[in-house]
Amino acid sequence: MSVLSGPRPLRPRRTCHSVPGSSEKFLAKAPTLAADQVFLDLEDSVARSEKDAARARIIEALKTLEFPAEKTVVYRVNGTDTPFYYRDLIDVVEEAGDKIHAVMLPKVQTPGDIEMTAKLLTQIELAKGYQVGRIGIEAQIEDATGLVNVEAIATASDRMETLIFGPGDYSAAIGIPITQIGGTPEGYPGDHLNYLYSRIVVAARAAGIQAIDGPYAAFKDEEGLRTRTQLVRALGLDGKWTIHPAQIDVVNEVFTPTKESWEKAEAMLAAYHEATESGAGAAIFDGEMVDEANRKMAERIAGQGRAAGYAD
Ligand code: COA
Ligand code: MG
Repeated sequence: MSVLSGPRPLRPRRTCHSVPGSSEKFLAKAPTLAADQVFLDLEDSVARSEKDAARARIIEALKTLEFPAEKTVVYRVNGTDTPFYYRDLIDVVEEAGDKIHAVMLPKVQTPGDIEMTAKLLTQIELAKGYQVGRIGIEAQIEDATGLVNVEAIATASDRMETLIFGPGDYSAAIGIPITQIGGTPEGYPGDHLNYLYSRIVVAARAAGIQAIDGPYAAFKDEEGLRTRTQLVRALGLDGKWTIHPAQIDVVNEVFTPTKESWEKAEAMLAAYHEATESGAGAAIFDGEMVDEANRKMAERIAGQGRAAGYAD
């Protein structure tokens, strides 16, 4: 038995693309998409009557499709309050657990949902001889109970990799008067989700994991998607879902620093490094005081720019 130890790697997740398990055609496309992550869905994009067929299709897809090594591969089970959850978890992980990086759990309300999933994963890993602890968990926060418990959910297991905001279910549960998933109601002067995003991102950061925004369903509205994505990036989130291939480039672009901001971050790091080498605690860069806090801010942008290949 091999056991994973140490902090989990933070995987690239600027774009987390939803691929309905109901469609063989969509599944076949998954490895070719430019999203950092793809997740094969058994939940709300699959009709109740199709759950068993979709589960078999996803197992087959995971076993046969060749995903690029750098892509994060995930699948979404149905919630713990449905008759599908245990089969979704056990059948797919037993058959194809070596092909996935994480399981996505929708409608998480309590740390118990995560603990149960983590323990079942350990059981399957032990029984199958997989590396214990390798498979991560992504948790969707989609209602008031989930949000109230979000800090405990984020730390419920070492397997936790992301908190994900689910805008459709959340709007329904809270009573936000819209019918468009990812849409904005009239009547509030600021962004109606500011509190929620900030709460989720703080819970994620305190747990050392990632915070991801859910979908923007109006897939033909590129500008609306761009605006929403810029907003969540500005609040500190790490990535956003996409539901149509045409959304992927926009979200990747927004979550990648521009070349100029990357160059500025690298230059700031160099100036700060030079100053601290000569014994100073703060430096002047571009007419502004920069100190250790700037180094941390610049490191994040510099790292993202390097990951985007700007340094190559
Ligand atoms: N994943 C992979 N491929 C997809 C895709 C997806 N989510 N959505 C569309 N495609 C493919 C189509 O098969 C088509 O491929 P082709 O050019 O080889 O024929 C191409 O992308 C263009 O698709 P298009 O015809 O514009 O879309 P559509 O009318 O077939 O489907 C949706 C539109 C919204 C129904 C579809 O994108 C979808 O089901 N998205 C996911 C919904 C989802 O996951 N919901 C749950 C999470 S919120
Ligand atoms: Mg949902």
